[in-house]
Amino acid sequence: MFSLINKSVVITGGGSGIGRAISLLFAKQGAEVNILELNETAAQETVDEIRAEGGKANAYACNVTSQEAVKTVFASIGRVDILINNAGIAHVGNLEKTSEEDFDRIYNVNVKGAYNCLYVAVPMMKENKGGVILNMASVASSVGIADRFAYSMSKGAILTMTLSIAKDYIKENIRCNCISPARVHTPFVDGFLAKNYPNNIEEMFEKLSATQPIGRMAKPSEIAFLALYLCSDEAGFVTGSDYPIDGGFIRLNN
Ligand SMILES: NC(=O)c1ccc[n+]([C@@H]2O[C@H](COP(=O)([O-])OP(=O)(O)OC[C@H]3O[C@@H](n4cnc5c(N)ncnc54)[C@H](O)[C@@H]3O)[C@@H](O)[C@H]2O)c1
Repeated sequence: MFSLINKSVVITGGGSGIGRAISLLFAKQGAEVNILELNETAAQETVDEIRAEGGKANAYACNVTSQEAVKTVFASIGRVDILINNAGIAHVGNLEKTSEEDFDRIYNVNVKGAYNCLYVAVPMMKENKGGVILNMASVASSVGIADRFAYSMSKGAILTMTLSIAKDYIKENIRCNCISPARVHTPFVDGFLAKNYPNNIEEMFEKLSATQPIGRMAKPSEIAFLALYLCSDEAGFVTGSDYPIDGGFIRLNN
């Protein structure tokens, strides 16, 4: 069950957090994992860990905001059975605390980065007679979250791009879904706590943990298990869906 033997996977942001956990699990299931990362050192660390356990993986330095860079890397990988658009960045602020520069930065990585990988991977999948795409959305895609104006915009776009791709390529045997986690304890969360709440990191960590009715943040590995199911052949009937994985955040917070 859930074997990925002979599958070529491309994942963005596999050097850290959720992307790293997915890379490790997918390699364990037999996939060859190709990591596109801004942080080449981090990507290489994930690759080294995979290879040390006998798995197959490659690191590619790539800023997903550049379509040229994405094209070049995909050309050298050659075949893509599974694409995971995971790279993403955060911004804390309501509309008035979101400058044009902030807005563009979030848009370029979270929205355009995913578009660039889709733009290059989908024709390759068509040529291979199929493929699977998984996009990393967020509970912010479908719930109003305070002080996440630009981030919510970007994750809303991830959800709707997911539906659009799923609809347009269903006849090409391409499945496309997204995952919407609530808070996951990764460097992404630690980074924004350090940046935005330097004087009360622990208090804010507890506060953020408590916003999940289950009382904690998710572990990256818990997101990876759902990703594995959705990208496996066992999920052959699943497309055009958004999967919350949120400790009750969306439905039980009332
Ligand atoms: N952590 C959470 O609470 C949470 C919740 C919901 C959704 N998400 C989403 O999950 C995804 C992964 O989050 P994470 O918490 O693992 O983050 P993370 O910061 O731990 O890892 C993200 C990785 O993406 C890479 N990256 C950033 N910009 C890039 C670019 N332009 N090109 C290539 N690589 C780039 C970073 O170098 C980093 O290694 C993001 O899309 C995030 O929005 C996270």
